[in-house]
Amino acid sequence: MIRFDVLTLFPEIFASALKETTLKRAQAAGLIEVRLYDIRDWAEGRHHQADDMPYGGGDGMVMKPEPLFAAIRTVRAQGPEAKVTLLSPQGRRLDQTLARELSQRPRLILVCGRYAGVDERVREHLVDEELSIGDYVLSGGELPALVVIEAVARLKPGVLGNQESAAADSFPQRLEAPQYTRPEKCEGHAVPEVLLSGHHEAIRRFRLKESLRRTLLSRPDLFERYPPEGEELALLEEIKAERGQG
Ligand SMILES: C[S@@+](CC[C@H](N)C(=O)[O-])C[C@H]1O[C@@H](n2cnc3c(N)ncnc32)[C@H](O)[C@@H]1O
Repeated sequence: MIRFDVLTLFPEIFASALKETTLKRAQAAGLIEVRLYDIRDWAEGRHHQADDMPYGGGDGMVMKPEPLFAAIRTVRAQGPEAKVTLLSPQGRRLDQTLARELSQRPRLILVCGRYAGVDERVREHLVDEELSIGDYVLSGGELPALVVIEAVARLKPGVLGNQESAAADSFPQRLEAPQYTRPEKCEGHAVPEVLLSGHHEAIRRFRLKESLRRTLLSRPDLFERYPPEGEELALLEEIKAERGQG
């Protein structure tokens, strides 16, 4: 079981993602738990103002520190010891290796920024780590938090149904081989014959070779990080020879 505590100004953004398919199943089976907290509940004053103008001027509003200090402290104290993770484009980039690391933790506290970001004092004094989902900027940390939750949840044993499999997924080492389903012919385009042959060894070899072909074409950097060995080397030679002929 892994518990996610999510601090956000927009808890509703999570509603439909949490009540459908993978994440719904994971919660129902008690494999993950997601608790949502509205940061505005800790914002004082009649309007529960959670943002303010930046000191020194400039565009955009900044998330006020006091509601975040109070919210993070309260939530952190309500469960087992856990790091406070701020979603931020400046953070460590999420990949499958990091998702696996995170999936080993019992609890994640995810803080979603909005507007121009959070007051720096929150980052300095309360945040233990920053996590980015990629080199682009979104308007808030809610979609990134959902990305983290789903990437982590599907690694917990029992979360994926029989229809899916985490083992054959594309990362971290090789891109996944192409997948086909019925019909055998679609607008004249046929499924590769070997997949219909029932010959398990030939199918295994076909899939491995196509997985290597895709990796070579789209993500050759993965071969530097995870060098090919044995059968993979032989298949890569075949692929290169075929390309030479083509
Ligand atoms: C408009 S962004 C603020 C960006 C900030 N001014 C900066 O340049 O670092 C608002 C919030 O969206 C979230 N966010 C935006 N892009 C993200 C990304 N790639 N990964 C994770 N969180 C992101 C963060 O929580 C951030 O505080």
